[in-house]
Amino acid sequence: MTSTGKIPKVDQTTSYDVLVVGAGLAGLRAALAVDPELSCVVLSKVYPVRSHSVAAQGGINAALDPEDRWQDHAYDTIKGSDYLADQDAAEFLCEDAARAVYEMEHWGTLFSRRPDGRIAQRSFGGQGYPRACYAADKTGRALYQTLFERAVAQRITVFEEFFVVSLVVAEGRVAGVLAIEIASGRLMAIPARTVIFATGGAGMMYARTTNPYIATGDGLAIAYRAGVPLKDMEFIQFHPTTLPGMNVLITEGARGEGGYLLNAEHDRFMGRYAPKLMEVAPRDIVSRAIETELLEGRGFADGSVHLDLRHLGEDLIRHRLSEIYDFAITYRGINPVHEPIPVQPGQHYIMGGIATGLEGQTTLPGFYAAGECAAVSVHGANRLGANSLLDTLVFGRQAGLAATRFCREEPQAPPISEASWEEWQDRLATLRARRTPMHYGPIRARLRATMTDNVGTFRDRKRLQAARGELAALREVYAHAGVMDRGEVFNYDLLAFLETGFLLDLAATVVEGALVREESRGAHWRNDFPARHDDQFLKHFLCSWSADGPVVGEAPVAITHYAPKPRTY
Ligand code: FUM
Repeated sequence: MTSTGKIPKVDQTTSYDVLVVGAGLAGLRAALAVDPELSCVVLSKVYPVRSHSVAAQGGINAALDPEDRWQDHAYDTIKGSDYLADQDAAEFLCEDAARAVYEMEHWGTLFSRRPDGRIAQRSFGGQGYPRACYAADKTGRALYQTLFERAVAQRITVFEEFFVVSLVVAEGRVAGVLAIEIASGRLMAIPARTVIFATGGAGMMYARTTNPYIATGDGLAIAYRAGVPLKDMEFIQFHPTTLPGMNVLITEGARGEGGYLLNAEHDRFMGRYAPKLMEVAPRDIVSRAIETELLEGRGFADGSVHLDLRHLGEDLIRHRLSEIYDFAITYRGINPVHEPIPVQPGQHYIMGGIATGLEGQTTLPGFYAAGECAAVSVHGANRLGANSLLDTLVFGRQAGLAATRFCREEPQAPPISEASWEEWQDRLATLRARRTPMHYGPIRARLRATMTDNVGTFRDRKRLQAARGELAALREVYAHAGVMDRGEVFNYDLLAFLETGFLLDLAATVVEGALVREESRGAHWRNDFPARHDDQFLKHFLCSWSADGPVVGEAPVAITHYAPKPRTY
């Protein structure tokens, strides 16, 4: 992997065939799928190994055993999605899963093993078979290490610390991106025949999240502003088990290995919510169960319930759950061999995203998306744990292959005009020069508090309307806000300002989708509409950008073999 950072302002001679934005698992897998004869570059906001994929803990699903079938994995995924997943997409994901996992094994991923040498698999939420392949509780890191090394070996060029601000669209197709080189502050126009976004999630919309500070939804907001619709944005996943205070993830693998959830009355309460699957029910159900225990006064004083692993024994905890063993000791001074770990739900994932087809294609010719920023949609209203790593590998590859085909079939992209560069250059200059007492920092804090308080696990019209009003007010303030750092070099103040704008746009799509969806489905629970209504709402909502806020449209859900049924566990 090489990094030169030498891209001229607008230099049509360095036009790339494929430009991938994001160097996490989806981005690197996409780049590795591109025909090496084509020119391909990866742009990343951070140094690649800081990508959030590295934090994934518990596993990657695939039906590997003869007793398991990919069709059963597909059924579990579709039922887990509360029947909102496009079934052709879920089937594609699950049928391709074994190939994807064995490919990673052959490329060198150090999976945990069974005594007979086969890849170890554990139970995960909502799965009818223990099919989550894992590398202790560092699965994302193990997979990432493999792809990173492969990208180095294939000399894939990565421009690290480039912050993309805009897609360039010309003559009805993508023509490249505008990006700030963070080290210099220079705005670059980077022409490309195809662009693949693999920019991750938007957890920074919420105050309590397992996501890192970089998860600000940049790719989603940029696509949305460029006229590409966002799908199913109302579906936000809250992971049941995060450490109170900092909301570090405590993997579902801990429950997959047999951990119990206990309330302050020492009751293993999941028996009342999901009598068959108990702690390994899907995440939407477990998170709501924990929140209900807390709301009804059966939680602990710090707003937690307990995850009890003591009966699993020291050997299992220290070997298969070594990272959370360390986290509990480091961050809470708790040794899980001897004491339960306090946990509470926290935002973890967005099921919605840039609307794509099976090849990562969007409504904009030449523009593709994969990974968390995309909605294919395989996760529907609720993603099953250990399906997101799989999504990054399967659909990252799909996007890379599709971009290759596009390059072979379509002529060069139209050139990027100086005018599109100048428009953004002027905008950034105005922003740096703006004298205002209003910093964007309090706006971001209020946005996160509003979303946490009003658009969380339990929703209703009143709270959603309050969120809508608050977001409109924050947008007004944001229009006059500014930055303190007026410099060019490593101006993270300016980048955070831009990220806050992205988050404000995305939060509006979450709220509008949640208001329109007057039913409860998967992770979207409406106290005022507590039932699922397939007759009215078995459909996707698509949000399109307008100056007055999101315009909500609809798209059908693809049904193949699995008729929607009541969802019990
Ligand atoms: O709990 C976990 O290990 C998370 C896995 C996932 O989000 O897929």
